[in-house]
Amino acid sequence: MREFSGILRGGGEAIHGVLPCSFQGFFNISCLSKVLDLPPENLIKSISAVPVSKKRRVADFQLSIASVTEDNSSDCLAPDLHLQAQKLAERLKCDAVVSEISAGPGTVNFTINRELLAKTVLRQVLKDGSEYGVKSELFSTVPKQKALIEFSSPNIAKKFHIGHLRSTIVGNFIANLKVALGHEVIRMNYLGDWGMQFGLLGVGFQLFGNKEKLKTSPLQHLFEVYVQVNKAAEDENTKKLAKDFFRKLEEHDEQTLSLWKQFRDFSIDEYIRIYKRLGVHFDEYSGESFYQEKSKEVLNMLENKGLLQKTIKGTGIVDLSEKKDLSSFSTVMRSDGTSLYITRDLAAAIDRMNKHNCDTMIYVVSKSQSNHFQHLFQILKLMGYDWVERCQHVSFGLVQGMKTRRGEVIFLEDVLNEVRSRMLQNMASTKTTKEIEDPMETAEKVGLAALIIQDFQGLLSSDYQFSWDRALQSRGDTGVFLQYTHARLHSLEQMHGNEQLTDINVACLQEPDAISVLQHLLRYDEVLYRSSQDLQPKHIVSYLLTLSHLAAVAHKTLPVKGSAPELAQARLCLFQAARSVLANGMKLLGITPVTQM
Ligand code: ARG
Repeated sequence: MREFSGILRGGGEAIHGVLPCSFQGFFNISCLSKVLDLPPENLIKSISAVPVSKKRRVADFQLSIASVTEDNSSDCLAPDLHLQAQKLAERLKCDAVVSEISAGPGTVNFTINRELLAKTVLRQVLKDGSEYGVKSELFSTVPKQKALIEFSSPNIAKKFHIGHLRSTIVGNFIANLKVALGHEVIRMNYLGDWGMQFGLLGVGFQLFGNKEKLKTSPLQHLFEVYVQVNKAAEDENTKKLAKDFFRKLEEHDEQTLSLWKQFRDFSIDEYIRIYKRLGVHFDEYSGESFYQEKSKEVLNMLENKGLLQKTIKGTGIVDLSEKKDLSSFSTVMRSDGTSLYITRDLAAAIDRMNKHNCDTMIYVVSKSQSNHFQHLFQILKLMGYDWVERCQHVSFGLVQGMKTRRGEVIFLEDVLNEVRSRMLQNMASTKTTKEIEDPMETAEKVGLAALIIQDFQGLLSSDYQFSWDRALQSRGDTGVFLQYTHARLHSLEQMHGNEQLTDINVACLQEPDAISVLQHLLRYDEVLYRSSQDLQPKHIVSYLLTLSHLAAVAHKTLPVKGSAPELAQARLCLFQAARSVLANGMKLLGITPVTQM
């Protein structure tokens, strides 16, 4: 049997110059790699914390044989894997850090010395604060990137539909996550601020508009004007006026442009205010209008590269088929020579890349536009822009049935007001509101958490049926439950003092319910890693829900109040660590943790 001693860190003290398995630093990977005769990179990805489930788990970490011996894993039979696990386990010996090593079906299982587990995890969580998990070895091979993330992107004077809301919260999450992991992020809002509808809107405003209303509530007013003028547009005269208005806009007629600019500027001001309620901001408000001129250049480029074909009707198309038989194509120019949505997107993509020189460009847009983005990327590729390989359309499914009491959702603000008032009502019925300093604000934050968790629970690509009742339940897997747990843990700290707890006696944290929380805290970096790989928030959501459940159980069985000082202090420290990780995760998802509710 080969010696295991020296493979692990002694007494929780860091040995410099060796790779820890992950942030927890229990394993000395370079030694482990020698003893097991396996490449260290494989080991880092193959050792993971064992997920905590209802059943108590046997070990803290496991080494997956299938993933460590990646290349031949597929033809390895299960009994073989078990045998391999046994053989590897035999080479290792327990020491001061690892108190137990066993072989399972395809895994080598490690149990960490109980006191060391508590000490190391708590120390790390409290020391790293908001950076806990982020400094993990798992991220060491991931290069830091500059990412441009385009999200929300509503259309001026039109409805802000649920798709825009989904794009807003998903994009915000991706941006938050990337920033937390040390990447540079540009948050961009690409407004629908150009097109024939602005001709109609311009005429509508001349007929039904009101400058005062435009200033005070631009989104609502422009929408109303747009609806009104659409009814009026049945008659030929209005149609003609609209065409004229848009033509003038395209010709940059000063007066026309100035009115359009007011529509845009006032709308953006109001959006900024509403996004703020959601905790969302943008670095850049771009829009289709910017690319009106540049679209012409794109058409020229397509022409020069021999990619632009004219149909009999005079429209411009790009052949996207492999056999060049037009079995698949994209229309990029109207017969009158003007640009289309996709032409503007082509110009926008090229411009963004030139301007920001980013490593990756992400579009967070509903899956109903998958075809559009496929075409966009295909054309960019044909044009010779290899960076298109680094562009990604993050799509999401349809949400059905989101209605407010007033009816259909038209504005983002409707949703925010609705969730706030519903939450306020729920809070009033539980009679706790009286003690809350700002019930409106608390209701809003809790309500938003509910919306976000309901939305992020499944795969983004799946459609779901929206339900206010389900989202706002205080028990079960909801955002309300996360907020409630956070608030309770916070008030526990308030009640018992939350000074930096350093010298706690970890021997006091040996109950199974305490160990479960600690074991779960071990996994946070892996969960962040998964979400960073597939950009799906659900991994973090289910992690936080489990953390809240475990913390709630521990809160019941491990009282702080009335316990001996040493015990109380150790427990307090455990709860503080749980709350800190809970808060970190919630913030990544775009939720502001509340301290009372
Ligand atoms: N404004 C568009 C819409 O509401 C979404 C824009 C998506 N982004 C883009 N680059 N095409 O449908």
